[in-house]
Amino acid sequence: MANIVIVGTQWGDEGKGKIVDLLAADADMVVRFQGGNNAGHTMVVNGEQFICHLIPSGILQKKLCVIGNGVVVDPAVLIEEIDYLESKGISVGPDLLLISDRAHVIMPYHKLIDHGREKMKGDKKIGTTGRGIGPSYEDKATRRGVRFVDLVDPETFQERLDAIVPEKNFYLENFLATETVDLELTRVQYAAYADRLRPYVANVSVALQAAGKTGKQILFEGAQGTHLDIDHGTYPFVTSSNTVSGNACSGSGVGPKDIHGVIGIVKAYTTRVGAGPFPSELFDDIGNLLQKTGAEFGATTGRKRRCGWLDTVILNNAVRLNGLTGLAITKLDVLDELDEIKICVAYELKGRRISEVPANLNHLAACQPVYETLPGWRKDIRGIRRFADLPAVARQYLERIEALTGVPIQIISVGPGREETIVTHNPFHR
Ligand code: GDP
Ligand code: IMO
Ligand code: MG
Repeated sequence: MANIVIVGTQWGDEGKGKIVDLLAADADMVVRFQGGNNAGHTMVVNGEQFICHLIPSGILQKKLCVIGNGVVVDPAVLIEEIDYLESKGISVGPDLLLISDRAHVIMPYHKLIDHGREKMKGDKKIGTTGRGIGPSYEDKATRRGVRFVDLVDPETFQERLDAIVPEKNFYLENFLATETVDLELTRVQYAAYADRLRPYVANVSVALQAAGKTGKQILFEGAQGTHLDIDHGTYPFVTSSNTVSGNACSGSGVGPKDIHGVIGIVKAYTTRVGAGPFPSELFDDIGNLLQKTGAEFGATTGRKRRCGWLDTVILNNAVRLNGLTGLAITKLDVLDELDEIKICVAYELKGRRISEVPANLNHLAACQPVYETLPGWRKDIRGIRRFADLPAVARQYLERIEALTGVPIQIISVGPGREETIVTHNPFHR
């Protein structure tokens, strides 16, 4: 029996959805533990693409999907996603989806505040997804949040609205100079969401404990990436939750002894959406090639992703912060056409060579990447299913990543499809 956590090692969009969908075949439950619908996780099965923002990527494998207490949930988006999946013939009844009674609800004023603040910041904006994620976590921390248990109880919900909305409206109108929220309209709208979602609401921690007692295997699905973590990322250009593996415990209600492995998803190069430092970013033809070949557009906002070389300073930060036990390298096929491939192995800062990510963002922005150059393989690898069949030069690239990180590569993805994968070690088979 094993419980495994999947996390992004870079700035998100590493291909977590694809790998979670693949590994979910061996899991009984798949659990989201942080973030919200800022996430966009893509799965491609039999040529059909599915994008989930809130529902765990285990849903296509018909596994019990769980939204933990650490997630912030926009109920309208969740209902839309249930309907979208059901319209594609994927059942998402309460037998297949649980929502934590302690998960916080994204309210209309959270989205208005998110947009209003970004607008006010002008060119200093974070480039958030505009989904109300930050303002929702902020209310959780300042004890002004609304939880699912409050949403599904009309009396409590009314009390929460009465207490919170006037203050939010004052801020929206007088500080952000933007539209306000109609309390009664919100009550009626959210009452309808509550009626629809009530059957899904449960004590997730208790459900996970019961599953563990009967030998069920749990896969925890991280959202965003390690460098968007609110504590360990490139603050303030981060999201508002802890994205590292440790939060799989607090974000779902299990203890650390129940986690047996942590797989870091590593895109074979690096991308970032939104603002913030990115030392190995490319502004040349190769950057454009990665963006085009990798179809690097945000799965949530459709924005073009910034692209650059693989950065093992960033990767080793993720190895330490998450306690990675294995790596999954994705999008290796995107490098197929390159003559040579670079790996950032250190930074130069003020004439000094460093191998850690500086906390000071001005320092990070001033870091010059130190590169190692490897040959490209110039061959289409999408059809390859065994490690030994990869071109020797591609294996050399992977072995160099293992040597630089000290973590074994267990999965190699060579295309978006579920089957376009080489699994050298399944983390559930210990
Ligand atoms: P996530 O947020 O980490 O789940 O990643 P996204 O779904 O936002 O972005 C990853 C994108 O890359 C999606 O469009 C996937 O379908 C695609 N993808 C995943 N793995 C591979 C791969 O190995 N090769 C290629 N070419 N595309 C991939
Ligand atoms: P997945 O799970 C990539 C980025 C936003 C912005 C910053 C803050 O698909 O990998 P937020 O709306 O969270 O307050 O925005 O974080 N961001 C992501 N970037 N992938 C994601 O999720 C992201 N979720 C948030 O672009 O820079
Ligand atoms: Mg994504």
